[in-house]
Amino acid sequence: MKIAVDGPAGAGKSTIARLVARHLGLRYVDTGAMYRAVTLAALRQGVDMSDEDALLRVATSMDLNIVFQGEKGNVIYLDGEDVTALIREPDVTAHVSTVSTHKKVRDFIVALQDQIGKQGSVVMDGRDIGTVVMPDADWKIFLQATVEERAKRRQREMERRGVQVDMGDMQEQIRKRDYLDSTRENSPLKKAVDAIEIDTTSLDVAEVVQKVLDLVQGEA
Ligand code: CDP
Repeated sequence: MKIAVDGPAGAGKSTIARLVARHLGLRYVDTGAMYRAVTLAALRQGVDMSDEDALLRVATSMDLNIVFQGEKGNVIYLDGEDVTALIREPDVTAHVSTVSTHKKVRDFIVALQDQIGKQGSVVMDGRDIGTVVMPDADWKIFLQATVEERAKRRQREMERRGVQVDMGDMQEQIRKRDYLDSTRENSPLKKAVDAIEIDTTSLDVAEVVQKVLDLVQGEA
């Protein structure tokens, strides 16, 4: 079974997708982590974020290894180094939406995701999974929540990692990323016509997971 989970930043995609995959015994692939890994490598090499060809060179020359670890989600290795935590740092987050607007970078990353999709059952989360990466998915879920709620979740997530953030700044960042992700020319964040939308604003994680499981197990 193939399940696509899309939605904007902070809508809960990765948490929900990981738990649903665990319940169903499927692989889980965090596609945002792939764009984040390219961004981290580009920052380290001092590459200009508007230089599409240089970014493509970064993407094609890096050794990216995604290890599926049920409980922990995806562990990401970049050239042999575990960068799972590093790719969530604010500097990477601030640049990832610019890196992912570039068509050549997307085509390269989408081809990798396509190969993973072809290996069989999977839950994949991202922005364009139901529309571009797995248009043939059995289920397409689109998670939504208000900007205020998404910013609150991100703030809590950052605080758990010991980083204090201003709520206003967080909302601003999320709005900016929503804008870049949904207006870009290449595979923008968009709900697939056959996706089922779940507004998670007033739902907790367990409730959203249950809704998705009810759907895919035919009890909704
Ligand atoms: O977890 P969060 O929503 O903050 O972001 P993410 O899923 O790690 O994705 C980070 C960024 O990568 C997004 O804001 C998009 O710009 C880009 N992305 C994308 O373009 N296509 C995907 N399938 C996944 C992520």
